[in-house]
Amino acid sequence: MVASGKGGVGKSVFSSNLSAVFAERGIRVALVDMNVGLRNLDLYMGMEDRVIFDIADVLSGVVPPRRAFVRDRRFQYLSLLATTQKKEKFHAGAEDMKRLYRYLRANFDITIVDGPAGVNRELGLASIGVNAAVVVTTPEYVSLRDADLVEQTLHKGGVENRVYVVNKMFRDFLGHSTLPTVEIITSTMKIPLLGAIQHDNEIHLAANRGVPAVLGNDSYITRNFNKIADRLLMY
Ligand SMILES: Nc1ncnc2c1ncn2[C@@H]1O[C@H](COP(=O)(O)OP(=O)(O)O)[C@@H](O)[C@H]1O
Ligand SMILES: [Mg+2]
Repeated sequence: MVASGKGGVGKSVFSSNLSAVFAERGIRVALVDMNVGLRNLDLYMGMEDRVIFDIADVLSGVVPPRRAFVRDRRFQYLSLLATTQKKEKFHAGAEDMKRLYRYLRANFDITIVDGPAGVNRELGLASIGVNAAVVVTTPEYVSLRDADLVEQTLHKGGVENRVYVVNKMFRDFLGHSTLPTVEIITSTMKIPLLGAIQHDNEIHLAANRGVPAVLGNDSYITRNFNKIADRLLMY
């Protein structure tokens, strides 16, 4: 699962690119949006016109999971389960979530859960029994502090494998005295660093086009996400 303290740090962009990298390798990926009430991933994946059912429908048993997943037209191996836009429709409990995760483990090779920002009920639900959590942060003090808090919450919640990603690294600011240095970031986070991703307008524009930036090219972004994917497969 992918989590963060602050919102807007890049969880959904990270989840969509990582899913695309795995799917391009022929790995069956389920991408699950757990940002209850705030649906984004369908847009980032360019699948907004095809969402009929959402995670609330699945967890409440209205439809079986296979009917709610939308298969990506670009590759047969990637399917998205969208979140609900109506928070009041979401009454799921731990047992419902475990049932969904059992289905995902049986039917996909990897599930990537795009989790909520902050510490809340959805974070607890999304992290039940996951193999690893990736905490996304930006190189800013506010984001680091909140990331650390979420990391500790996941630790208490029993998520053993916890790693973090620093997203939106500005090359121009590296070594800038007002921003946290690499040493400050690593000593704040304590858990292993999975990777760092630059702030790059290509990533931003691609997300807005509904096409993960890693798709169909061999840019440094694609190579970086592939390295991150390789490291994640060790968990
Ligand atoms: N590495 C990056 N470079 C440039 N823009 C990025 C990067 N990562 C995310 N963004 C942009 O930041 C904003 C928030 O990203 P998003 O993934 O929606 O955050 P979250 O899911 O954590 O709320 C979006 O406008 C997105 O395009
Ligand atoms: Mg998001």
